[in-house]
Amino acid sequence: MKALILSGGKGTRLRPITHTNAKQLIPIANKPILFYGIEAIKEAGITDIGIIVGETREDVKQAVGNGDKWGVKITYIEQDEPLGLAHAVKIAEDFIGRDSFVMYLGDNLIKDGIKALVTEFKQNKPNAQILLAKVPHPEQFGVAELANGKVIRLEEKPVYPKSDLALVGVYMFDSSIFDAVKNIRPSSRNELEITDAIQYLIDQKKVVHPHVVTGWWKDTGKLEDMLEANSIILDTFTFKNEGRVDSASKIEGKVVIEKGAVIEGSTVRGPAIIGENARIINSYIGPYTSVYFGSHIESSEIEHSIILENSQIVDIKRIADSLIGQNVEIVKSHTRPQAYRIMVGDSSKIEII
Ligand code: DAU
Repeated sequence: MKALILSGGKGTRLRPITHTNAKQLIPIANKPILFYGIEAIKEAGITDIGIIVGETREDVKQAVGNGDKWGVKITYIEQDEPLGLAHAVKIAEDFIGRDSFVMYLGDNLIKDGIKALVTEFKQNKPNAQILLAKVPHPEQFGVAELANGKVIRLEEKPVYPKSDLALVGVYMFDSSIFDAVKNIRPSSRNELEITDAIQYLIDQKKVVHPHVVTGWWKDTGKLEDMLEANSIILDTFTFKNEGRVDSASKIEGKVVIEKGAVIEGSTVRGPAIIGENARIINSYIGPYTSVYFGSHIESSEIEHSIILENSQIVDIKRIADSLIGQNVEIVKSHTRPQAYRIMVGDSSKIEII
């Protein structure tokens, strides 16, 4: 069995971060989201992994490499334009060959991994196995309608969903999916939808097995989801200190301090992670915060936020519920006339008090 991870696409809902970065590489608890997927696939015993890459191909290739660090083999598959999940399957046919495969959306996180699901798929041998989860806003997802435990209809982001069962971004297929992706037409958003391809399988009387997941699952496509995923993962941590904490600092609860990090005169209240070589000086880092490597936080208070690498936050009273990109500087101005002086990327959002 092989795996296909989708790491192309545009990530419009996470702009401006995704103007310059792959959304799949945004760190959740200081680890790129994509790596959680690779680890889940490896844990399920699959080592031959194709990764669909698009505009951000260079960043993805640089971060993942050839897969050696996980003991897997990575093959990159270039998608010139994000023409849909089923289009990604179509262009992966040479890589997949006649094997069965797991398709894993590179921005999805599943708490319990996929090992048991892969075992179930291998035992039952349906043509497709889809994962479903009850969600409060099914209209934001692909939605499944079931009757007597069988999938009868799938719809992509319907205005009036027929159920609250969303399609989770992990699918298992045998090679009949290639016939399906060749027989569907682009949707109104001009994408070849995987939901339509699976509907084609259903219409052709193929076996599509639904599995309703009960553990948590997150599509990290939006800021709130990303912060929630970050909180959930941080909550699983236990205290670890590989950095340096001075005697004037207080570390409370589940805090991970990575190599070379320095904490001086500060309080860090977990769950939180302080990345390699980050510096936290005279500051408060509150629960559910991740500070990635090389960032510098001084005389500031931050909670429930994700700070990417090499950013600086100095003399800022309080930051909460935020995602801050790489190499960002947020500092208090001491020059007159006093003013907000801002150089901010397209599609940014700033709330000022
Ligand atoms: O997360 C689950 C949902 O994922 C499902 O409920 C939907 O049925 C499914 O269509 C999908 O919806 P999204 O709108 O969230 O898909 P998104 O465009 O965010 O793409 C998912 C991943 O696939 C993301 O990592 C980008 C990548 N991708 C996307 C497209 C359209 C590609 O690699 N190539 C593409 O052409």
